[in-house]
Amino acid sequence: MMPAMELRGPQITLRLPDPGDASALFALARDPEVTRWFSWGPYASVEEPQRWIAEQEAKREAGEQLDFVIHHREHGPVGITGLAELSRRDRRAMVGTWLGRDQWGTGANAESKALVAHLAFAVCGLERLGAYSNPDNARSTRALERVGFTHEGTLRGWHRHGALQLDVHVFGLLRTDWPASPLHDVPVTAIGTPPAPWLPGEPAPTF
Ligand SMILES: CC(C)(COP(=O)(O)OP(=O)(O)OC[C@H]1O[C@@H](n2cnc3c(N)ncnc32)[C@H](O)[C@@H]1OP(=O)(O)O)[C@@H](O)C(=O)NCCC(=O)NCCS
Repeated sequence: MMPAMELRGPQITLRLPDPGDASALFALARDPEVTRWFSWGPYASVEEPQRWIAEQEAKREAGEQLDFVIHHREHGPVGITGLAELSRRDRRAMVGTWLGRDQWGTGANAESKALVAHLAFAVCGLERLGAYSNPDNARSTRALERVGFTHEGTLRGWHRHGALQLDVHVFGLLRTDWPASPLHDVPVTAIGTPPAPWLPGEPAPTF
């Protein structure tokens, strides 16, 4: 049997979510500050992360979403990150991340993005890693720029949150940008491989 996909860095491992993570994810994302910019949340019961976890395998296999628990060496599960909006033809995907409030400003975000960049470029052979942020989410904008993403513009009326049709800022990191970004300096070990839909390209040289 193939080993489950994991990406290991100095402090953080990205590993696939399993049912045992539900109570930790509930504790982290029941905080309205954490989910403030999202179309979901805050979690009101542990059944919500349980349902989310139960959907992940089918979404991975279908090439819809490839999400990981951000597992900190000392603190255990501290958030979620991964890939979505895969275009196999164009070899691109989007990264999204949330962290429990205690982990903001600790470097966990930068390390988790380094692990996702390695996944996108060195494992999946993608050419572009994109990200969105709400135009009012200055913290997220700054967090993306400081790890090497370029703010490319604003998509107007891009998505719906409740009754609101909202703009988003769009960011990109190309495979050719990656070597010069601080993400590339983080040592990463990849274990296993993602499901076939996530492997549209030849694994890229790691420069
Ligand atoms: C977005 C998120 C993953 C970023 O992780 P983080 O650990 O908070 O980010 P970092 O500390 O690495 O970077 C934040 C940067 O924003 C700066 N910052 C913080 N508040 C700010 C504000 N109001 N205006 C401008 N910059 C701000 C910080 O100083 C830091 O920059 P610096 O390192 O140059 O000083 C995390 O805050 C989070 O999970 N937020 C909730 C979920 C979310 O919004 N996800 C993004 C969805 S688009």
